Amino acid sequence: MTKDILMSVTKAIVAKQKGLLAADESNPTIKKRFDSIKLESTEENRRRYREILFTAEGIEHYIGGVILFDETLRQSTQDGIPFADLLSSRGIIPGIKVDKGAKPLALFPDEKITEGLDGLRERLIEYKQLGARFAKWRAVININEHDIPTSFCIRENAQVLARYAAICQELDIVPIVEPEILMDGAHDIECCEVVTSMVLEMVFTELDAHRVLLEGMLLKPNMVVPGMKCARQESVQRIAESTIRCLTRYVPAAVPGIVFLSGGQSAEDATQHLNAINKLGPFPWPVSFSYGRALQAPVIATWNGQEINVPNAQKMLLKRSKLNGLACSGKYDPTMEA
Ligand code: 13P
Repeated sequence: MTKDILMSVTKAIVAKQKGLLAADESNPTIKKRFDSIKLESTEENRRRYREILFTAEGIEHYIGGVILFDETLRQSTQDGIPFADLLSSRGIIPGIKVDKGAKPLALFPDEKITEGLDGLRERLIEYKQLGARFAKWRAVININEHDIPTSFCIRENAQVLARYAAICQELDIVPIVEPEILMDGAHDIECCEVVTSMVLEMVFTELDAHRVLLEGMLLKPNMVVPGMKCARQESVQRIAESTIRCLTRYVPAAVPGIVFLSGGQSAEDATQHLNAINKLGPFPWPVSFSYGRALQAPVIATWNGQEINVPNAQKMLLKRSKLNGLACSGKYDPTMEA
């Protein structure tokens, strides 16, 4: 493990006004996104779409890194430039999703465990040769009103996250540790805060036990929000305060950055929440974004699979990246949406 390499990559990703573009949808997930515009999910359509994202003018000012999917890391622009090289030449660090997805946790109904540790070291060595400098692993925690998450499920996922993070660091690849508490369900914001607290506490206990260097990783958490089916939705201010209370209690100051997932929030909500959170600062860590849907949903809708719409789709990506970049320092204003 080379501390300096890990620390310089984390710093570059969350440099001032910068965050991550999560473009690491697996093939089943990108198919769902393309279904929304009635576009077939062929390898060429996926390649074309990612080329539109990665060639958008100006995004390098707000996007410090892009999370790629295995297939995408092996693809190139129409002119034959590998995507990883294209991104690096623009000062954007390429990264890779390395988990193999959340699978049912045997004998624990409705709970999930993320798979993909087998062969991870070998895959990371190849990904590094292909240009990836960081790697993401997503653990999924479900809430229902009765009995889940179990403490067993939380511990299992925390241990697996820590094992993945240790293997990454051994190879000088920055782990992006993502424990996601899902927004699905009818639970209230208090419940989300309790569960997020338990999960973060367990994740950092396991990271420590596995000798993971906190200075050489990034945390990708959910915000503290009520479930989408909860009758009591909350103000932007309340969400920001609950989220920061939870993070300041459970995320050590040594962590060099927090990059939120959007998790099903609308693009505007995700930006507003990030902005309100940063207005409560300063904090021990930069607080930024690693959005998938909140950056891409408006881009896909604008593109609609038509070449003629490409310039506007790219402008949309720049706009959302810029607004989230401003939200990293609490300088976003909803009137900028116009
Ligand atoms: P969302 O922002 O759409 O939640 O995606 C982020 C991500 O990388 C999920 O693993």
